[in-house]
Amino acid sequence: MSHSEPKRGNPLTLGVDREVALHHAAQIVLRAWRDFDQAREEEHVPSASLIARLQEPLPATGISAMSGLDLAAEVLDTSLAQSRPRYLAYIGSSGLEIGALADLLAHSYDVNLALDARAASLMDHQTLKWLGEFLGFPSGGGAFTSGGTISNITALVAARERAIPGSRFNGLGSTTPVVYCSADAHYSVRRGIELLGIGSRNLRSVPIDNERRLSPTALRDMITSDIAKGLTPIAVVATGGTTLIGAVDPIDAIADVCEEFGVWLHIDGAYGLPAAATPERASAFAGLDRADSISIDAHKWMYVPKACSAVMVRDRNSLVSVFSHEEAYIPHDGAVLNAVDYTLEYSRPLRALKLWLAFMVHGADEFRAAISQNLQQAQLLYDLADASSHLEVMPIRPSLSIVPLRAVPSDVPDLNAFNAALCDAIQADGRVYLSQAVIDGEVWLRPCFTNFRTTQDDVHVTFAVIVELIKKLQSTKE
Ligand SMILES: Cc1ncc(COP(=O)(O)O)c(C=O)c1O
Repeated sequence: MSHSEPKRGNPLTLGVDREVALHHAAQIVLRAWRDFDQAREEEHVPSASLIARLQEPLPATGISAMSGLDLAAEVLDTSLAQSRPRYLAYIGSSGLEIGALADLLAHSYDVNLALDARAASLMDHQTLKWLGEFLGFPSGGGAFTSGGTISNITALVAARERAIPGSRFNGLGSTTPVVYCSADAHYSVRRGIELLGIGSRNLRSVPIDNERRLSPTALRDMITSDIAKGLTPIAVVATGGTTLIGAVDPIDAIADVCEEFGVWLHIDGAYGLPAAATPERASAFAGLDRADSISIDAHKWMYVPKACSAVMVRDRNSLVSVFSHEEAYIPHDGAVLNAVDYTLEYSRPLRALKLWLAFMVHGADEFRAAISQNLQQAQLLYDLADASSHLEVMPIRPSLSIVPLRAVPSDVPDLNAFNAALCDAIQADGRVYLSQAVIDGEVWLRPCFTNFRTTQDDVHVTFAVIVELIKKLQSTKE
């Protein structure tokens, strides 16, 4: 057997198909990338035969790798893909090409970052440091995680231990901990509080101002009142880009309050924090360097494929004090820590590779340019909608890249029902993919720009499609 030939006889080797399969997969990826370059005029839907195949029982024997790949490609082609330039629903990601290639490499080597993995661990640390530098946060350590939810929970565990030392071992005893965030904070904060045994009844919903930003004055009053009642504030979660409208809480003023009371400040920047790296929005994040911890989802506005979030802390010991442990099957080498001594997850893939390669290949400036472009697209859509008699926008301009807007036809009695139907009509039409959100009881469309493939033209088409479908919906209701 020549050196380059695969070993035969073992189950699960691709065998002679290997090179052909890799070439075939490359062709499928190339076709997809070309297809993502422009938006489609309509979405493809799964055929009856594909649906039937997806209901077949477990096969006892396999098909060829090529046939399997073709079937996978058909499934993906008829799935909702966030990589498409007019996917503007929720907070999308983009499947950045170099990031997708990095995932193929990372998964092929299948490095495990639970322990030291030599060069991969060095790369992991370097990427985290670069990300902190890009955002303006003095990272003392942290980890890449599976998402903003896990990043937020990781930070809250560290905050709980700092406020109630030993709670990791002793539980909360008679202490009643309290956590503060704005009414618009992401649900993952509530989840974390419930998982940590703090209880969501001890999560304070701090009032927001007319720009939907957490009020530092109200925060101060709440903390003062809770301390007077004998409760223990453990953390304030400020949001750097709310999921609902992209509001950025006033971090500097919140940091003043946290400093005054010695309370941990966490910034949930899962969505919006990349904007802190742009010249036009950096000032909105003033005070970021004063936070104790931050969360950022690179799989959102840093464009790399899911899953690639990061949690960073100023002081790495704050993570070590809650996660370090001694297990017989993971021996320590003197004082050297294993990664699992400061992470919540155990086995961890090399998520950093996709961001590391993306920074290497594109450089930080190109990232800033892409984020700025999304910021401008949000402003453009806001202006188009603001000037239209068919649409209403919020009184405040988008601070990041979310642009809530809604139809306001004069002859429609139930605007919420009309806008919900409009959103359904847009999704069924397929030229644009949008989602809706309820803001103070009103149904709004909620386009969000976080895709490097989206162009100014896509913004104009999005606006035109919305107006066209409003008129169509109105005519069917008459
Ligand atoms: C502000 C914010 N925090 C946290 C999350 C949760 O992130 P993930 O879905 O990666 O767990 C989101 C998701 O949209 C978010 O917008």
